[in-house]
Amino acid sequence: MTAATKRLFIKTYGCQMNVYDSERMKDVLAPLGYTSIDTADDADLVLLNTCHIREKATEKVFSELGQLKRLKQASGGKMLLGVTGCVAQAEGEEIMRRQPAVDLVLGPQAYHKLPELIARVHRAANERLETDFEVEEKFDALPSDRQVDGPSAFLSVQEGCDKFCSFCVVPYTRGAEFSRSVDAIVAEARALIRKGVREINLLGQNVNAYHGTAPSLEGGDDWTLAQLIRHLAKIDGLDRIRFTTSHPRDMDDDLIAAFGDTEKLMPYLHLPVQAGSDSILKAMNRGHTAQHYVDIIERLRVVRPDMAVTSDFIVGFPGERDEDFEDTMRIVETIDYAAAYSFKYSRRPGTPAADMFAQVPEEVKDERLQRLQALIRDQQTRFNQSQIGKTLPVLVTGTGRNDGQMAGRTPYLQATHFDGTEDLIGQIVDVTMTNATLNSVGGQLARSSEPAL
Ligand code: SAH
Ligand code: SF4
Ligand code: F3S
Repeated sequence: MTAATKRLFIKTYGCQMNVYDSERMKDVLAPLGYTSIDTADDADLVLLNTCHIREKATEKVFSELGQLKRLKQASGGKMLLGVTGCVAQAEGEEIMRRQPAVDLVLGPQAYHKLPELIARVHRAANERLETDFEVEEKFDALPSDRQVDGPSAFLSVQEGCDKFCSFCVVPYTRGAEFSRSVDAIVAEARALIRKGVREINLLGQNVNAYHGTAPSLEGGDDWTLAQLIRHLAKIDGLDRIRFTTSHPRDMDDDLIAAFGDTEKLMPYLHLPVQAGSDSILKAMNRGHTAQHYVDIIERLRVVRPDMAVTSDFIVGFPGERDEDFEDTMRIVETIDYAAAYSFKYSRRPGTPAADMFAQVPEEVKDERLQRLQALIRDQQTRFNQSQIGKTLPVLVTGTGRNDGQMAGRTPYLQATHFDGTEDLIGQIVDVTMTNATLNSVGGQLARSSEPAL
């Protein structure tokens, strides 16, 4: 068998950090001859890159493993089966106990060790678990080259979380906060741009807590995210910068100012508030009040009036009363979101909130979620409709659903479709918006973007 014949299938769950990690795992495995395919059938190696954030996410992994076990048996046991990501970190031992078909279990900080672990499995060395935290080593050991998929890319700059919100598993699955050095980030950004990337989305569980070092640059230690963004904005060929996910406590003045003075920083911010009631925010250990959050958004809209703001919400946190939920509805009304995700509180064993009294009944959570989502859907539709008649620069990312249709993103991250040709992929073109739905905007190429005669 030649090296190039090995087929790899990675299924990704959870957040963008996992999407980034899956791409990096492909980079790590490429030198071993693994090429990606998009189904588990016939794969030589299947990796489930998992998410532990809510109970449902975790249960999905175990049911998927049951199905993969049958595929593995059908392959005569040839197929290797691995579990990576946050479930691997949190429940590694449990996975191996419940599903003996699993060959390897790898925590999020150990991806650079994939080749070694695969070799161990082949030697039947009986060491299937790798879940120690050594985040710095991971980033240093990952290949500097990256395969890219289109003009927009993720780049992890920060990992882990020290905030310990009382509902959340991330500090336990991803470990303590760690920021990559400015030099490493710039090198990776340049490598992406050389391959045609024009938009970079800087990632971190707490990306605005970024505090990396810059040994080769003036100013030295402890760069803020705003400094990093201003620095990256100087790179020719990089046209759009985004970052996610941020915490209200780390929205410093300079970062707010950057939205006003750094043209390449897109007018879009995902800033989760989770709830609108101060007593619930306190019980969640979020470390700020509802008013503090509203003030941040107001200041952002002073420097950048068209700012699109999105958030995450949890309904039915332990002790949430009707009046607390009404505070959540009120803050949504006040902010007027461009989009938002909302979830029913899910008890996560080992987190402080799991043991709190006054867990909210499921039917109350359901009812609150429905009301909240209806309001958010309404705001999202109105936000999309507010673009009708405007001409916006759209980064063309690929083909659209219908023939002759292209797809892209506005500065506000709205999915966009318009009639055009494939040579536009990777370009930023002006599109005049003519229609809008809950999930997308549509339009026509503006005259100025058409090739001159
Ligand atoms: N670092 C980000 C969020 C990471 S998790 C932040 O601080 O906002 C993504 C989202 O999942 C969270 O914003 C929260 O809304 C939701 N979430 C986290 N734990 C949850 C739980 N136990 N139950 C329900 N939703 C949860
Ligand atoms: Fe979880 Fe809170 Fe950290 Fe976000 S800030 S990852 S919600 S603990
Ligand atoms: Fe899920 Fe881990 Fe991301 S728990 S949300 S994959 S950090």
